[in-house]
Amino acid sequence: MTPRTAAYDRAVTADPQSLVPVRGPAAADPRLVDAPLLRAARGEAVRHTPVWFMRQAGRSLPEYRALRQGVGMLESCRRPDLVTEITLQPVRRHGVDAAIFFSDIVVPVAAVGLGIDIVPGVGPVVADPIRSDADLHRLPDLTPEHIPDIAESVRLLVAELGGTPLIGFAGAPFTLASYLIEGGPSRTHVKTKALMHGDPELWNALCAKLAQISTAFLKVQVEAGASAVQLFDSWAGALSRADYERHVRPHSAAVLDAVGRLGVPRIHFGVGTGELLVSMAQAGADVVGVDYRVGLGEAITRLGGRYAVQGNLDPALLFAPWAALERETRRILAEGGAAPGHLFNLGHGVLPETDPDVLTRLVALVHEASTRE
Ligand code: CP3
Repeated sequence: MTPRTAAYDRAVTADPQSLVPVRGPAAADPRLVDAPLLRAARGEAVRHTPVWFMRQAGRSLPEYRALRQGVGMLESCRRPDLVTEITLQPVRRHGVDAAIFFSDIVVPVAAVGLGIDIVPGVGPVVADPIRSDADLHRLPDLTPEHIPDIAESVRLLVAELGGTPLIGFAGAPFTLASYLIEGGPSRTHVKTKALMHGDPELWNALCAKLAQISTAFLKVQVEAGASAVQLFDSWAGALSRADYERHVRPHSAAVLDAVGRLGVPRIHFGVGTGELLVSMAQAGADVVGVDYRVGLGEAITRLGGRYAVQGNLDPALLFAPWAALERETRRILAEGGAAPGHLFNLGHGVLPETDPDVLTRLVALVHEASTRE
């Protein structure tokens, strides 16, 4: 239980819940104004709880695996024909309430010229990691000219999607920095934490650069028509709250503040972040992503009931008998009712071995169980 001290309550209430006014792309397309996902993100009443899944586009779908035959991951992210088709596949198949832009958190750093690849079964691998001041020059600012294909993909998608919102996304500075400093995925983040504490100046310079890159990547997506964004700080749960607030949050806040000015709802997500939920909300989130390690009701309590939440079915439960999955889903829907808005999702991404028919059935259950007259 989080101690409910007066200081905690002040911290929660001092942060104004930004009920995002309808501006930007949602204002432009009247079909989006009433999209359940955008209404729930703004804390407005919905006709049913919206549902989408992190990693809904990807290896659980045979039609995705067929399209990706012989095409590298990063290449597939830069081809508007593939990006649009892959993004649309789960929307057609499952009837989810949002599309998530098919890309990867390392696409913008690759676009500015950093040598990086996504190795199947491993993740992002950086040939020559960033570890000194001299390495920083390998990360120039991201400009729209680096990624004309991203704007094109978003425009094509928005035209196809009609009243279904497109969620744009980027990696948060800490999670990106970890890949760049470690050279690849890390369980312990030792080099990252050593740099954070040993050379705070270099750490801040690197994170400020990554904040610029992520902000520019998100701006391109929103200006081309994405109607919500998610900032993925997947590995923030590896940090203490003190380290998060001192060394990481200011950089994520810079990204979220800049995107907030574009008028789209901002979802902020990390894995294992039960202890960081309030801090991550205060970074400038409209919707706080909750992973499956903390109960949704408990997460809402920790957030003082002031934020919309997203989550948080354990992706492993998609392999459980239907009765167990249904029970958990109904519990999460009931608990989500205590927040100003609830976006149903998994607590982390769809696992590659998941039976896609279970996802389709789950979408129908969420809609049916949450429909309000
Ligand atoms: O459907 C969606 O969610 C949209 C697509 C998406 C991908 N990556 C595609 C992808 C999104 C939102 C991401 C974000 C991303 N990338 C994150 C944050 C989300 C999270 O899981 O916490 C992170 C940490 C990465 C870095 C990354 N890229 C990892 C860890 C991996 C998996 C490596 C593996 O093969 O197991 C990737 C590769 C990746 N990104 C794949 C997909 C569909 C698999 C590559 C393939 O299909 O060959």
